[in-house]
Amino acid sequence: MTTDERNALNTVIATGDVQARPPLTDNEQIKVAVQEHYSKVAERGAEADCCGPDASGDSCCGTAANGLYDLDEVAAIPAEAAAASAGCGNPTAISDLKPGETVVDLGSGGGIDCFLAAKMVGETGKVIGIDMTIKMVELARENAEKLQAHNVEFRLAPIEAIPIRDAQVDVVISNCVLALVPNKPRVFAEAFRVLKPGGRIFISDMVTHGELPADVIADAAQWVSCVGGAGDRDQYLQQIEDAGFETPETISEVALSSGEGTDWAGSVYSLSLKATKPE
Ligand SMILES: C[S@@+](CC[C@H](N)C(=O)[O-])C[C@H]1O[C@@H](n2cnc3c(N)ncnc32)[C@H](O)[C@@H]1O
Repeated sequence: MTTDERNALNTVIATGDVQARPPLTDNEQIKVAVQEHYSKVAERGAEADCCGPDASGDSCCGTAANGLYDLDEVAAIPAEAAAASAGCGNPTAISDLKPGETVVDLGSGGGIDCFLAAKMVGETGKVIGIDMTIKMVELARENAEKLQAHNVEFRLAPIEAIPIRDAQVDVVISNCVLALVPNKPRVFAEAFRVLKPGGRIFISDMVTHGELPADVIADAAQWVSCVGGAGDRDQYLQQIEDAGFETPETISEVALSSGEGTDWAGSVYSLSLKATKPE
C-alpha cells in the first residue's frame, strides 16, 4: 500500500465513508480493477522525482517507500521503484537470503523487493519478479536497467500460474499481493511447486480476524487497497499448510487501525510469516 492509499484507507476507516462503486461480482472484475489500479500506481512511480514535490518527509524517498525500509536501502534503488512501492511489510528484511540463492517475488510491482533481494543473493544468485500488470512490469524492467541489475528479471504473468518449472527456487517472497487474489490456495500451491525441497516462503500480507462485511468484500476500492480480499488469518495459515508447507511461523502481526468508526476495520492486520517446504 502507498502512503496515499493508507491515508485514504484510514479516512474510510475513521469515517465509515466507503466510496460507493458498483459491487464486484466475479473474479474477472477483480482482476481488471486490480490491473487498472496498479497501472496508475506504476505511472506514479514512473513519474517519481526523488526529493521533488512528491517525496515529502524527512528524508529523500523515505516516505515514498512507506517507512517499511531502511533509508539506506531505499537510497540505493531507483526513486521510481520506491515511489511505486505498495507493500505492507518488508519480506527481504526477514528472509535471510544467502549469496547464490534463486528468489521469486510474487506480485513484484515496481521491483523494490526484487532489487533488495538481488543485492543479498549477489551475482551468483538470481531474482525473478512476477506481476500481471503490464505497466508495473515495464516500470520494473526500466528500474533494473537503471540499476544495471543483471541478476534480476521480470516476467508478466499471473501468480496463479507461475512461469517457472518445478523445484527451481530457494525462496519465494511476496509483499501485499495475496490479498488481491481471490484464489489464494492456487497461489500457495504454485509457490510450493516452484520451491526446491527445504525452500522457504516469506509473505507480508493483509489478513483479517474473522469475516469482513459483504459490502466491504464487494467494494472495488477496498479490494484494490488490499482489504476487501484480505483472507481470514486462521484460514490463510491453514491454506498454506494445505498446500504442503510445514506449519507457518508468524513473524509479526500489526493492526491496521484501532477500528474506530466502523465495526470491522479493527479486524484488519498486516501479517508477516515464514513457511518451509519439507525436505
Ligand atoms: C500492492 S502491490 C505490491 C507490489 C510490490 N510487492 C511492493 O511491495 O511494492 C500488488 C502487486 O501485485 C500485482 N498482482 C495482483 N494480483 C496479481 C496476480 N493475480 N498475478 C500477478 N500479479 C498480481 C499487482 O499488479 C501489483 O503490482
